[in-house]
Amino acid sequence: MRVVKRIAQVRKIIASAKRRGKTVGLVPTMGYLHEGHLSLVRLARRRCGFLVVSIFVNPTQFGPREDFGRYPRDLKRDLRLLKKEKVDLVFNPSVHEIYTEGHQTYVEVVDWSKIMCGASRPIHFRGVTTVVLKLFNILEPDIAVFGSKDFQQAVIIEKMVRDLDLSVKVVTGKIVREKDGLAMSSRNKYLSKDQRKNAVVLYNSLKWLRQAYIKGLRDPKLAIKKMASMIKGKNGKVDYIVFVDKNTLEPVKKLRKGTLVALAVFFGKTRLIDNTTL
Ligand code: PAJ
Repeated sequence: MRVVKRIAQVRKIIASAKRRGKTVGLVPTMGYLHEGHLSLVRLARRRCGFLVVSIFVNPTQFGPREDFGRYPRDLKRDLRLLKKEKVDLVFNPSVHEIYTEGHQTYVEVVDWSKIMCGASRPIHFRGVTTVVLKLFNILEPDIAVFGSKDFQQAVIIEKMVRDLDLSVKVVTGKIVREKDGLAMSSRNKYLSKDQRKNAVVLYNSLKWLRQAYIKGLRDPKLAIKKMASMIKGKNGKVDYIVFVDKNTLEPVKKLRKGTLVALAVFFGKTRLIDNTTL
């Protein structure tokens, strides 16, 4: 497994893999890897001949008061885990390598970057699409794998690919959860012991919703009311709970098969997200 920091060098290695007829797969990450990331790495491994994982904590997707500076990092451990998964190449550039002095070009999926997570994180998705497009341009993957834990992110990236006629195929992997149901996230590390226990309410509220849907609940307003009260009961502060069409992210008036239920909840300063599709 090679670990490369420079764009020029990584381009050469990828070009050589392509000359050998390999399909190039990419799993973009910000590191501090967990089983959620590794499930995507395994999915990509099965689908390509040359597997690249990028590790880059991308400053442009963090707001000025967000956690860029304290985002957890452990490169040594990440590399050990990726080696076990038979990754061919890890791209781990510096901030300077990706954003040269005076960088001023951004790409934005305009409308969908403003809603849901974008409402409370206004520059977040612009940073995500910009860095992902840069990674696509640098690494030229045939396929790229994203997790459905960040459902909105995956939908926005698919939209960028379609709108800009990129040739990469976007694949999404399932949400990987802790034993109690909490969706794995690098940010779970920020939770206190109590918050960690309470945070399972995100999953429990989704579980409740699935049952209620099966029993005939169709009104999103009623569902939101009940879910919000479950979350409040565990000291979580709801950022949003939405019921939207999973392809268009348009709010639905009535729950039906294929409706995406997504939520974001604060525990103290830590913001957690989760979702499920009915
Ligand atoms: P990061 O949060 O490190 O996540 C990298 C990938 O892992 C994303 O596609 C995310 O959806 C997926 N992932 C995270 N937790 C998961 C879980 N519990 N189950 C399944 N997949 C999970 O998302 C980013 O980084 C960045 O925004 C990035 C796309 C790398 C751009 O900077």
